[in-house]
Amino acid sequence: MPPEKSANKYLERYAQGVILRDQTLKQYNTFLQNLGEHTPLEKIAGEYVHTKGVCRIFDIGCGNGQALHELKQHVGSLVHTIGVDLLPLADASMLDEFIQANVHDAPLPRDCDIIVSFRALHEMGNFSILLPRIARALARGGRAYLWIRFRDTQGGHAFEGEMSANEEKYLEKLSEISNLEGCRVLVEKVPVEETPSPARHTHTTPAAAGYVVLFMRPR
Ligand SMILES: C[S@@+](CC[C@H](N)C(=O)[O-])C[C@H]1O[C@@H](n2cnc3c(N)ncnc32)[C@H](O)[C@@H]1O
Repeated sequence: MPPEKSANKYLERYAQGVILRDQTLKQYNTFLQNLGEHTPLEKIAGEYVHTKGVCRIFDIGCGNGQALHELKQHVGSLVHTIGVDLLPLADASMLDEFIQANVHDAPLPRDCDIIVSFRALHEMGNFSILLPRIARALARGGRAYLWIRFRDTQGGHAFEGEMSANEEKYLEKLSEISNLEGCRVLVEKVPVEETPSPARHTHTTPAAAGYVVLFMRPR
């Protein structure tokens, strides 16, 4: 589906207010754990502030900006929070900068230390263009943590997203390369696990199943 049409579809769906767009910092940290990052976001951001004097963090499909709002309250004013979303923030003061736009049409902020995107990229699609743009938005030493839901989950419900077979093919290809736009790349498929497994206790719910993608730009 062309980006414009898909954006209109999500505008309609989200305007009904039935889909959760308000994940908390604690919930974002659970996603980070699913990505294999066990350091909470507030600690990661605090380390950038300590070493650089500032931390620019960008959330793609930020919803109402709740998680980054809480992050700033934890770490302080040296964290600069930026979000992009199709829909307006419920409260404009939630973030330092907010871009209300279809991500495919908006220039992305430069020199980001941390980029996160949870529960949103599969609604955006066009990964062969979008993911390299995300990698280019990272500052030296910056990291992007992305979680992308599977096109179809095996756990019973199918997801109608913008994840086409092409998007999945692109992610498979990405998992075979080690460098994208000067960043190290890591792609992993977290399968649906119906039964808790002690070894991977953070991957026990079908909601955690999906692709995890990490970009790391060297210093
Ligand atoms: C399921 S919500 C997740 C929000 C937040 N990340 C969270 O976990 O609470 C997905 C968000 O992506 C946004 N979105 C979907 N397609 C988009 C697009 N093409 N450009 C910008 N935002 C988009 C939606 O408006 C929605 O707020």
